[in-house]
Formats: sequence, structure tokens, C-alpha cells
Amino acid sequence: MAAFESYLTDNRKRFEQDLCHWLTMASISTDSAYTGQVRQAADWLHDRIDSLGFKTEMIETCGHPIIYAESPPIPNAPTVLVYGHYDVQPPDPLDEWLTPPFEPSIRDGNVFARGATDDKGQMITHVFSVEAWQATIGDLPIQIKFLIEGEEECGSGGLHEFLDGKYDHGQVVTEKLAADIAVISDCSQYGPGMPAITYGLRGICYFELLLHGPSQDLHSGAFGGSVTNPANALSQMLASIIDSDGKIQIPGFYDDVLPLTEAEKKQFAELDFDNDAYMKQLGVNDLSGETGYSTLERRWARPTFDVNGLWSGYQGEGAKTVLPAHAGAKFSFRLVPNQNVDKITASLRDMLQKICPPGITMELVEHHGAPGFVLPLGNPFMQAASEAINQGFGQKPVHIRSGGSIPVVNSFGNKLNIDTLLLGWGQDDDNPHSPNEKFSLDDFHRGIKSSAYLWQEIGKISI
Ligand code: BES
Ligand code: MN
Ligand code: MN
Repeated sequence: MAAFESYLTDNRKRFEQDLCHWLTMASISTDSAYTGQVRQAADWLHDRIDSLGFKTEMIETCGHPIIYAESPPIPNAPTVLVYGHYDVQPPDPLDEWLTPPFEPSIRDGNVFARGATDDKGQMITHVFSVEAWQATIGDLPIQIKFLIEGEEECGSGGLHEFLDGKYDHGQVVTEKLAADIAVISDCSQYGPGMPAITYGLRGICYFELLLHGPSQDLHSGAFGGSVTNPANALSQMLASIIDSDGKIQIPGFYDDVLPLTEAEKKQFAELDFDNDAYMKQLGVNDLSGETGYSTLERRWARPTFDVNGLWSGYQGEGAKTVLPAHAGAKFSFRLVPNQNVDKITASLRDMLQKICPPGITMELVEHHGAPGFVLPLGNPFMQAASEAINQGFGQKPVHIRSGGSIPVVNSFGNKLNIDTLLLGWGQDDDNPHSPNEKFSLDDFHRGIKSSAYLWQEIGKISI
């Protein structure tokens, strides 16, 4: 691999420039004002993968396009399905960015831009590793299939339709995507210099609750006290969902939760974790959560409830004595493996209807939902990943779980019968979905190197 490694060194700057160019394209999937830039980012990636000689397609969907590409099959060697997303979150609040989100800026060895770590910077490492392999070694040792979507940040509508066979043009999707293992780089390492294999993710179910009271806003003095105020009702209903011990009060919510095993508790406890440093990182003066669990347990392996947005009444300057006609909230639960989205949704709806006060009508809208994930221990590809990361980072990875959600991982398991290796090159403080998102350039290059070693290691597994 000597020629390969010098290729990486010689092309360091160009890989960085290419990533930065891609990061200027504001591929914000949720906002239709950016449809043109989403398309531009898709076109760029399509052409980039196409130039590797992969059979590359732009698959049009009900939403943004999917890029699908494959290299030739290699007899007796595994096939890897690489998933990622080229869409990004909206950048707001804009005034908190030190440099504009779509003008990538390099400071202290990091590239700052929306999408730097989530997920453009991480996913493109797998494309650059293929380029470097082909330029110095030649044919790939395995077959690689790229499946890169543009709607991960807004529910993956098009991808779900694609996986359900809606865009089959003569080729059944399960055959097209058939692979021995999936690889996703869209999460984090454990810490600087501590690369990780993520073997578990939390699931999610996301809701919007709308409460309607009087037919229009009222004078709170003239009418207050005689009708239910939707904002008061909303506060009470949301507060009923969780108690002061951090226990969620929806009937049956914990029924299917798999408790942490003693071995896993021990494994979490052995990871070096400093609550004080964590508090400092987040700018808080204390931590809280479900009583009886450590911070890592709370983040990785216990379900949670969070309000994500809340609105009602007067928000302008000064005071206005109003009894608002409406109130609303967006909120979500993170789920752990074995919890069932449909059961929880039904029980939540039932509970909210029961506690909805008189004079209020409620609407509960369901947004996306996906169960949690754990990779069964002893997966044969884990060893290959471990070896590859050791080569790329100069350090063996630790095994961690993560609190975030990547819903497609479940679809790969259920619909395609493929397990997923989650190999995150990011850091916990990369600010995904927040202002000043960043990605360490050293991690970016180590990711490219690890990716190439992954192809090599997986190529040694005969199937
Ligand atoms: N890359 C993240 C998921 C992630 C974040 C995994 C941190 C591990 C650690 C992904 O792009 C994401 O934001 N997922 C959403 C899920 C979704 C259904 C919108 C999430 O976790 O909120
Ligand atoms: Mn992501
Ligand atoms: Mn994300």
C-alpha cells in the first residue's frame, strides 16, 4: 500500500478543495427554496462517482434524487453497500456562525460548514478512497454499491419508496441492492484519538400536537378563567408525559425496553467519561436525566422525551394580555432496540386524548418513526472494520453506541437482510444540526485511509 499512501499524501489538498467546493452547495432538503442547490449537490456527486467508472444512476423520486452506483461484481468476494446522504440541515440561527455556513472556512485544522460532518465530509471519504485505490492499486478487491440519498434530514420519503420497489425499472430493488454488509459513516468517534465502531443507535418517533380553544384570541382579563387556555393546556399535557425522575408516563412505554446487560453497563463504565468536561462542552451547570443511569447510559441506551419546538400566544416586544386561540408543540421520543413505534404512538394518542382538558380539541400529527438498532455481536465484518480503523487511525477502535438515529439501518435489516457497520469519523463536538458545524481535516484524511483498508480487509473474507 506504499504507492497508495503517497497518493493520499500528494492529494491531500485536492481532496480538501473538492470537499469544500461540494460544501458550498446549500443542499437543504427540507426547504423548497433550495431545490436547485440540492440538485447541484446531487449532480456533483453523481459525476464524481461516475468518473470512477462505476455504473451510476440518478434515480428520480417523489422528493430529491437518489444516487446509485456500482462497481463490477468480484467472484467469491463480498459486496459492500455504502450508504450516506448529501442533504444537510437548515443552517439557522445564522448569526451564530463565525463564518457563513456555505462558505467553508478552515480554522485550527477543521473545516467549518453546514454538512462538513453530517454527512458530506464523512460520506465522501468512501468515494475518495476508491479513487486512490484505483489510481495506485487497480481494480477494487470487492464490489462496492453506493446508495446516497438527499432526504435523510427530512424523513427519507423517496428512499422508502425506492426500497419498496416503486422505482424498479425491470430490476427488483432487493436484488439490485443485494450486499453482504452495509457501511455508513454518519456518526462519531468516541473522542479525539479514540476511533470507534458504533454498534447501536437509538430509534425515534416524532410528533406534532396542535391544541385549539376559542375561535379567536381573547382578552385574558375579560375571558380568562372561564375557558381553557390552549397554552396552559399544552404545558400541562406535555408535563404529564415525563416525571421528575425522567420516567416517561405513557402506559406501556417501557414494556419492550431491553435492559442493559451487566456486561454492557461495565463496558460503558470502562470508557473514560468526564461529566465535568461534558458539562463544560455543553455550557450547562448540571446534568439531569433518568434516575439511576449514568450519562452514557442515558444518551445511548435509555429512551427519552424532548420537546423540539413550542409555540402559542404573544411573542413580540412588551406584554400583551391575550388568551391565545391555539397552541402547538413538536416533540419526539428516542427509542431503544425492541421498542415498537406503532404501539407507543397508539398509547400516546390514547393518553393525550384522556388528559386533554374540556374546551380544547387536539390534533396529533405523526411525523417519522424508526426503531433502535444493535448490531449482533460476533458479526464477521466487525473484525475487518477494526483492523481497517487501526491502519487508518493508528489506533484500535473502541465499541460504543450512539444516541442518534439513522432510520435506514432498520430498513437494510428488515427489507434487505443486511447488517450495518457504523464507522463514524466525526467528533462529539462537531456541532451537527447546530451553528459552526465542523469536521477535523485529520479525521477526514484518516477516514479516507481507513475506508481503503476496509475494502482490503473485507476483500480477505471469502463468501
Ligand atoms: N447523522 C445523523 C444521525 C446521528 C447523529 C447518528 C449523531 C449518531 C450520532 C443523521 O443525519 C440525523 O440527523 N438523524 C436524525 C434522524 C431523522 C429521522 C431526522 C436524528 O437523529 O435526529
Ligand atoms: Mn447524518
Ligand atoms: Mn443529521
